[in-house]
Amino acid sequence: MTNLRHLEDRFQLDTYAKLPISVEKGQGCSVFDENGTEYLDLYGGHCVASTGHCHPKIVKAIQQQAAQLIFYSNATYNSVRGRALEKLAQFCEPARYKAFLANSGAEVNENAIKLARALTGKPTVISTQNSFHGRTYGSLSATGIEKYRAYLNTPVPHHTVLPVEEVVRAVNEETAAVLVEPIQSMSGVEEISIETLKEIEQVCRVKGAILIFDEIQTGVGRTGSFLFSQQLGISPDLTSLAKGIASGYPAAVLLVSESIAHQVKKGDLGSTFGGNPVACAAIHATLEILEEEDLISNAAVIGSYLKRKLRELSGVKEVRGRGLLLGISFQDYTAKEVQKHLIENRILAGTSNNPDILRLMPPLTLSHENADQFIQVLRKL
Ligand SMILES: Cc1ncc(COP(=O)(O)O)c(C=O)c1O
Repeated sequence: MTNLRHLEDRFQLDTYAKLPISVEKGQGCSVFDENGTEYLDLYGGHCVASTGHCHPKIVKAIQQQAAQLIFYSNATYNSVRGRALEKLAQFCEPARYKAFLANSGAEVNENAIKLARALTGKPTVISTQNSFHGRTYGSLSATGIEKYRAYLNTPVPHHTVLPVEEVVRAVNEETAAVLVEPIQSMSGVEEISIETLKEIEQVCRVKGAILIFDEIQTGVGRTGSFLFSQQLGISPDLTSLAKGIASGYPAAVLLVSESIAHQVKKGDLGSTFGGNPVACAAIHATLEILEEEDLISNAAVIGSYLKRKLRELSGVKEVRGRGLLLGISFQDYTAKEVQKHLIENRILAGTSNNPDILRLMPPLTLSHENADQFIQVLRKL
């Protein structure tokens, strides 16, 4: 296949730092470049390829739906949408939600913020330092990583970004919402303690603030339960899902707790492409695969295996995270240096905002053999 990288260099707005490879094909946990060279994908296309690349069931669901009906709006009913919503509700039990379907992570966070302000009639949205919530104006105003915030000339008013340990004290009668990324992935897989998250939930209940969990990376089974909140025993009012929810087909979901969902009226929220039939077919197929292949358990099992193996390696300083959302630091190397070594050995992994932390967010189909391959390559570092 011809190398066409120069076309992107010439015509794409220069806003993405790119790895020096062109990904042209995907299959399971592997991707292939234009020469057919195979790479083990521990980056998961940025935490997206939940069921692996081009799972045959996903491909078939998208192809069949595209042949049947590519698009019709939420102004009518559609049976594929109905089936996807029903299946999603099963995965979220015991909590009961209604879903708002959208297209991207930032879009659902934006709607979560808007909803919280509208439903409470209060102005302030509190979020945490080191969080990432997206690049739209509201979601970026809530983002706590300075590197991204710095581009905001004028943040949306009444966004307060605080160190996580100051959140509980700051919530008051003016607080519309607390927005939390429970494992802060982009900042280097920083876990917020369960105690702190529970205290935040408690203070939200007492002060009448809406608790929003951004589970765009932690959700869809990655941490060993469908929602990370399920293993914490926390019930957020709103939960954002995107990335892996449709195995790479663009889709996002805002889960709205039934206790507040009844306050939303017709016309309050909307999105032309949100909940389109092809996205819904991909969501439904993704959820079926999670079930049929027991991928949520696999994420927990392989995640623990990787942690144990990594901790046995002499050059590894720290391993953190849950399931298949892992951050690793090294005694003698930066994350970028390790990433380069991995690419030279045909493995893709992510870096993070912390120069020391390498990030893994692979497909949930990752096998013990895949994990061993990674460990072998790290041994050569
Ligand atoms: C935790 C989190 N929230 C929100 C977003 C924004 O999602 P999107 O890029 O789909 O708008 C991301 C994307 O990386 C994310 O990791």
